[in-house]
Amino acid sequence: MPAYSSSQPAINFRFRCIACGDLSDHASQDFRCAHCGDLLEISYPRGSEAKPDAEGLKSTWRNRRLSNDAIDLSGVWRFRELLPALKDEQSIITLREGNAPLYDLPRCARITGVPRLFAKHQGMNPTGSFKDCGMTVAATFARSAGFRWVACASTGNTSASMAAYAARGGMRSLVLVPEGKISWSKLSQALDYGAVTCQLRTDFDGCLCLLQELVLRAPMYQLNSINPFRLEGQKMLALELLEQLGWQPPDHIIVPGGNLGNSSAIGKALREMRELNLIPRLPKLSVIQAEGANALVRTIREADGKRLVSVQPETRATAIRIGNPASWKKALAVIETTGGTCEQVSEVEIAQAKAEIGAEGLGCEPASAVTLAGLKKLVTQKFVRPDETVVLVLTGNLLKDPDYTIEFHRGDLLPATADSTAAAALNHLRRPPIVLDAALDAVIRTLEQAEQS
Ligand code: F0G
Repeated sequence: MPAYSSSQPAINFRFRCIACGDLSDHASQDFRCAHCGDLLEISYPRGSEAKPDAEGLKSTWRNRRLSNDAIDLSGVWRFRELLPALKDEQSIITLREGNAPLYDLPRCARITGVPRLFAKHQGMNPTGSFKDCGMTVAATFARSAGFRWVACASTGNTSASMAAYAARGGMRSLVLVPEGKISWSKLSQALDYGAVTCQLRTDFDGCLCLLQELVLRAPMYQLNSINPFRLEGQKMLALELLEQLGWQPPDHIIVPGGNLGNSSAIGKALREMRELNLIPRLPKLSVIQAEGANALVRTIREADGKRLVSVQPETRATAIRIGNPASWKKALAVIETTGGTCEQVSEVEIAQAKAEIGAEGLGCEPASAVTLAGLKKLVTQKFVRPDETVVLVLTGNLLKDPDYTIEFHRGDLLPATADSTAAAALNHLRRPPIVLDAALDAVIRTLEQAEQS
């Protein structure tokens, strides 16, 4: 069964291979080009049809915020003119995804010396991560193509999201995760939403390889970000962000990089918004990776972006513990087109940045905190100037990985560092729980000590 065929009437898109440019109405179940095997993206050939009017689109999207229809309450489908057309608008599977707040970050702004600093907090999505924006689209098209089963390989968030949307849509789901390398919180979500959950004795890259073979043998619809429908949904982060900024592009958008689907999706959205004159210029999109999972950084530095330099990944930011990112070519193209960059950050830098975002009253998971850690480096390198506007994409909720946070505050997360400045900075941020007798004096003494610290 083809994973999707776009040849029915009223369908407004085609599959385009990112390498050989082949255009097709069909995609096979591994979502790879039938000619050269590279990844596909969804393209919207316009032919002689006039470009939609930018101001008209903006006002349609704004007006839909007054509607109570499920399709308009979704922060993804509200922008449906930039999505593959649905045969039936009632068929969407939605949990009211998107609608993610844009917060200012006054403390982090002081730390980095960039006063106009914002966080687009995708961790406020229904299952706690940005994956929901892609999942509503891909799960909807999976069901409309007649699939009963969906499947993914995951470092945790994709599986949580997929399991939820499959359950809402009456489909079964199969999750492949690396054993012992994902947070229990994310695993518990997949279990609760009824997924068949397999913990494989390998890493994420091993799980993804196996999945790619499985979908060619069994009638399963794969919901990894190789699936181009996922990226169409994830594009909407950028539309919503630009709407929140009154369609004035920020100078920089900074995103964590794992399998590199999200940076590819945001970049595609920026490109399409520019083509439709929704924005006057492109923001620079930069990707930040953990030093221990830095395949894209090494691909650029060691191979000039010509071939993927895979790595054996190791980082406590388990969401981005990926050594062989599938969408590296797409992400590289986005960095080049927008004039962005790619940087890596250490485990100490990630932990510090995560605690600093926590101290804003927002919190995020470790993989999201690489953005703030990366921004500090980009400021030092003068790639980001203090007078520029910067948006950090926080991809996951604080509650996604409580073990990391607790270990950090207890001082058990990282081996002792020889760098005394770094050690002092980390100590200053730690707030370990304090066990006391249930006595008023003891609590007052603790308060007095806290006042002086
Ligand atoms: N941040 C979080 C919280 C993630 O869960 C992921 C990826 C990323 C960043 C990186 O995004 O892969 O699009 O570059 N998580 C995937 C998963 C791989 O299976 O949940 P990316």
